[in-house]
Amino acid sequence: MAKQTVLTGITTTGTPHLGNYVGAIKPAIAASRNQDVRSYYFLADYHALVKCGEPERVRQSTLEIAATWLALGLDTDNAVFYRQSDITEIPELTWLLTCVCAKGLMNRAHAYKAAVQANEEAGEDPDFQITMGLFNYPILMSADILMFNAHKVPVGKDQGQHLEMARDIAQRFNHHYGEHFVLPEAVIDDNVATLPGQDGRKMSKSYNNAIPLWVPEKKLRKAVMKIMTNSLEPGQPKDPDDSSVFAIYRAFASDKQRAAMQDAFAAGIAWGEAKQQLFELINAELAEPRERYEALIAEPAVIENKLREGAERARAYSRAFMDKLRHAVGIRPLG
Ligand code: TRP
Repeated sequence: MAKQTVLTGITTTGTPHLGNYVGAIKPAIAASRNQDVRSYYFLADYHALVKCGEPERVRQSTLEIAATWLALGLDTDNAVFYRQSDITEIPELTWLLTCVCAKGLMNRAHAYKAAVQANEEAGEDPDFQITMGLFNYPILMSADILMFNAHKVPVGKDQGQHLEMARDIAQRFNHHYGEHFVLPEAVIDDNVATLPGQDGRKMSKSYNNAIPLWVPEKKLRKAVMKIMTNSLEPGQPKDPDDSSVFAIYRAFASDKQRAAMQDAFAAGIAWGEAKQQLFELINAELAEPRERYEALIAEPAVIENKLREGAERARAYSRAFMDKLRHAVGIRPLG
């Protein structure tokens, strides 16, 4: 059987934190070594423009996210790793898809509807601060996926609707212009580990409770020490199931380490000691990749070259496919 294609995109906004690492980055990097599938990983920098109009932040985030994935061992020999904006066929395809996409389909997008609703509740014009970028976002995402005829697209729960839309758009195009596109399927892992942040709510940059992935050892220790706990004293038994310290610990621990920490909780380990052990565990896992990360950040040209190599591999496919698609819609040489 021919290999299946798996594709996923990472929007280049923000700085990665431990929650991103455990929930998304680590499993995706493990998957990049799978030789049984053809895999595509890309930095969705055009998507970043929908959320962020600050050029320096877009650049910085692209650099940090690329360095993160490389430092953590993304297998770039097996997987194709590229930057969306290097694939000039993607915006071209976006337009072809825009022309078959029903406006009503976009009206139903959750993200757009939420923005309209927020405006209405605030007594604003429904379109207040809504750009066509936000409205068309699902078409750009469809182009990312359909460009490489991906079969499977691992995404978070919030992206399920976008995959439905990609299928719908692909079907319309196929129906009108012939069978060009594979209908992609979302792969949504219901068991993704979500980590609590320092205040016990889900770790997220919007709650300001996130522990950054790449900070010097001392800062990492400080951030771990800030995790909120209850006021049980040393010697008093503690409930691991009601503790952010334990929840984060278990995400990094082997079975044996987890069982030992459970016993320590029952035996009344002091919070300071539990946090020290948590810090040591996280640090042991991140110390080596942190050195690679820092080396990469100091040499952006190395990252740039990697991305260009990836883009060349990706474009070997997208260029030829886009030629076919242009022809299919009637954009053809005349002579
Ligand atoms: N929209 C996705 C997110 O916010 C990122 C993304 C862009 C993506 N294009 C994609 C994911 C294509 C999968 C496939 O998470």
